[in-house]
Amino acid sequence: MKIVLFGKNGQLGWEFQRTLPILGEVISVGRDDLDLSDLNAVQHILEELKPNLIINTSAYTEVDLAETEAELAMNINAQAPGIMAEAARKCSAVFIHYSTDYVFDGKRGSPYSEGDLTNPLNVYGSSKLKGEGNIKQAGDAYLILRTSWVYSLRGNSFVNKVLGWARKNETLRIVSDQISSPTWARMLAEITSSMIAQNHADLLESIRERRGVYHLAGNGYTSRYEWAKQILANDPNRTEQVARVIEPALSDDFPTLAARPLFSALNCSRFEKTFGLQLPDWSHTLGLAMAK
Ligand SMILES: NC(=O)c1ccc[n+]([C@@H]2O[C@H](COP(=O)([O-])OP(=O)(O)OC[C@H]3O[C@@H](n4cnc5c(N)ncnc54)[C@H](OP(=O)(O)O)[C@@H]3O)[C@@H](O)[C@H]2O)c1
Repeated sequence: MKIVLFGKNGQLGWEFQRTLPILGEVISVGRDDLDLSDLNAVQHILEELKPNLIINTSAYTEVDLAETEAELAMNINAQAPGIMAEAARKCSAVFIHYSTDYVFDGKRGSPYSEGDLTNPLNVYGSSKLKGEGNIKQAGDAYLILRTSWVYSLRGNSFVNKVLGWARKNETLRIVSDQISSPTWARMLAEITSSMIAQNHADLLESIRERRGVYHLAGNGYTSRYEWAKQILANDPNRTEQVARVIEPALSDDFPTLAARPLFSALNCSRFEKTFGLQLPDWSHTLGLAMAK
C-alpha cells in the first residue's frame, strides 16, 4: 500500500510517521516539500504519486491568527482537503482527514454527536467546516475524523505551555469555563492506524461503506483548569515547578481575537461501534503520555 501523509511535522503527523510504516510505503509531505496554499501543486503531487491512502493531518491551526488571515485559512483548511478528496476518488484511494470540535458553538451542554447542528464561532472553525463540506462533495471512500484539544509532548502544546508557566510563576490562572476532551496525538495516530490495519485487506470498499464524519477524541471531558492541574500532578520533574497556587479563571479574563466554544466535548461512540475500537480515558492517556 502506498500512503501519502500530509503534515509530517505537526503534532499528529509526527506520530503517524511512527505508526504508518508497518502498513505500507509512506511518503511524508511537509511544508518544505509542498505549500498547501498552492492548490495546483496539491493536485499535481497526488496525480503523480497515485497513492492507495491519503492521510491529511495538516491544517491552518492558528485559531486567533485565522481571524486576520481568513483567505489563507480557507485555502488550507477548506480548498486543499477538497482537492485531496477529489484526487483520492480519481485514483481509487482512501482519504482520511481530521476536523475539529470548533465546528460547534459549544452551547449544547453535553457531548456532541456527529449529527448535531454545527455553528462555528470563528474563522478557523468555519474553514474546517467548509473543508468537511468540500470533502463530502468531492470524495468517495473518505473519513472525516473530528477531534479536540490535541496535545503532544513536542512543541508548543497546552501541556508544554502549562509545564513552562509552572516553572516561571508562583500563581497560575487557567480558564475553567472551557470544557472538552484532551486527545494525545500519539493515541490518535495509533487508533487510526489500528482501524486501517483491521480493514487492510479491503480498505477501499470497507471505508467506502462506512464513509462519513466520526468523532475521535480522548474519552470523557474536563475543563482546561482541571486538565492543567492533572498535567502538573503528572509532571515527571515536579521539583522544578515554582507554581504554588492554580486559580480558576474565566475565558472573559483573557480576551482573544477568536471566540471559542465553551463546551465542545465529543461523543465518540459512533467510531467505537463502527470500528470495534475502545477509546481510552483522557486522564489515563495523559498519565501514559507524561510517564518518563
Ligand atoms: N491542535 C488541536 O488542538 C486540534 C483540535 C481539534 C482538531 N485539530 C485538527 O487535528 C489535525 C492535526 O492537528 P495538529 O495539532 O497536529 O496540528 P499542527 O501541529 O498545527 O500541525 C499542522 C501541520 O500543518 C502544516 N501546515 C500548515 N500550513 C501549511 C501550509 N501552508 N503548507 C504545508 N503545510 C502546512 C504545519 O506545518 P509547519 O510544521 O511547517 O507549521 C504543521 O506541520 C488538524 O486537522 C487540526 O485542525 C487539532
